[in-house]
Amino acid sequence: MNKKDGDVLIDKISHHEILKTNTTPLIIFLENRIRNNITTFLKVFNSVFDNVQCFYSFKANFLPEICSIVQSEGLGAELIGLPELKLALRLKFPPSKIIVGGPYLPQELIEKCVQEKIKEIVVYNIKDLTRINSIAKKYQIVQNICLRINTQKYGGKLGIDLKNSNVTKLKIKINECKNLKFTTLLSHYSTQMNNFDLFKKNLNTLLEKIKILFDAGIRLENINLGGGFPEAVIMPEKQLRELATNINSIIQKSNINFKNIYFEPGRYIVGDAGLIFAKIIRVTDDRWIFLNIGNHICPKFAKSSLRFYNASKIEEPHKHKTSIAGIIPTDQDVLAKDYFFTNDLQEEDIVIVTNMGAYNLTFSNRFPYLLPNIILVKDKNITNIFNPSLNRDFSII
Ligand SMILES: Cc1ncc(COP(=O)(O)O)c(C=O)c1O
Repeated sequence: MNKKDGDVLIDKISHHEILKTNTTPLIIFLENRIRNNITTFLKVFNSVFDNVQCFYSFKANFLPEICSIVQSEGLGAELIGLPELKLALRLKFPPSKIIVGGPYLPQELIEKCVQEKIKEIVVYNIKDLTRINSIAKKYQIVQNICLRINTQKYGGKLGIDLKNSNVTKLKIKINECKNLKFTTLLSHYSTQMNNFDLFKKNLNTLLEKIKILFDAGIRLENINLGGGFPEAVIMPEKQLRELATNINSIIQKSNINFKNIYFEPGRYIVGDAGLIFAKIIRVTDDRWIFLNIGNHICPKFAKSSLRFYNASKIEEPHKHKTSIAGIIPTDQDVLAKDYFFTNDLQEEDIVIVTNMGAYNLTFSNRFPYLLPNIILVKDKNITNIFNPSLNRDFSII
């Protein structure tokens, strides 16, 4: 997004041009931004590591058009359920680049993973191993398994807690499950990790646990550090490179050798590639503005670093504290408080909200307003990818 002669350019198109044929609210995804983010991510990590593999976390944004762009750039896929798996296969992600798993592994999902020979099933609970083993046995294959460990973060409930009793249980299970091969240890710490300390904590936990397993005679050849990177615009290339270099130096110092290192970025790839055009529908005397969107489209759960621009007054300084509310009829629908915005606030002003490409649609809910249209912009081209009157819903099945 750029400013030019009082206009806002969305890739190479004037925002006025887009609004000639579209009304607000309107969601826009920027294809070039997704491609650039992938290029930067791969460039940085491939230059620091010689054994890195990257899997896009579909849950960040599972629209088929978005995932298809990711596929065409050669990333793998990290998936949590059957609808995503069917989508990834339809989009021709090679099974050798698909990782599937999560806290809920229904029978049908495991069957499909095994039948399709996907790269790894990620297991969060030791109990799931028996079921996966019997399905793998039925299809006469040996299924690769990634174990997700508990990060030990305060309140962290996901993943296997590798305390002594569980290591013993795991050892017994590994010996029993002859149709499983234990290849990888995963630790995903959090989302929006803006400083290296959080990545360091994650890595140190992973290294500590891999040593515990090693001492118990369980050898895993790969590590997976999950995702958690902020939007690419928040973490510029230089900072990403520092992060990658620091991760590498901790691994080198640990003297543990891995075959491969995996990452599963979601937000970094798509977060700043999504924006929304909204409109001011009301202005109050105490500088609250109400937009024709709300937490049903930009939910707090998405934890996005939302930025607000008054596109109708883009040349005016954005330095006057303004609070921004949505249209859900509750006082809780606040999008931002005391946000630096234009002094002049008028109904009908167009507001552009950026950094909403990741998790906003994922966590969006069925508040009974009409869903926004969604378009994909590339250079000067616009493709409609979702029209609620025709497509009704963007869920995947
Ligand atoms: C296991 C795992 N990997 C990757 C991700 C993607 O995280 P992010 O979008 O923050 O990069 C998540 C998000 O919750 C996750 O749980």
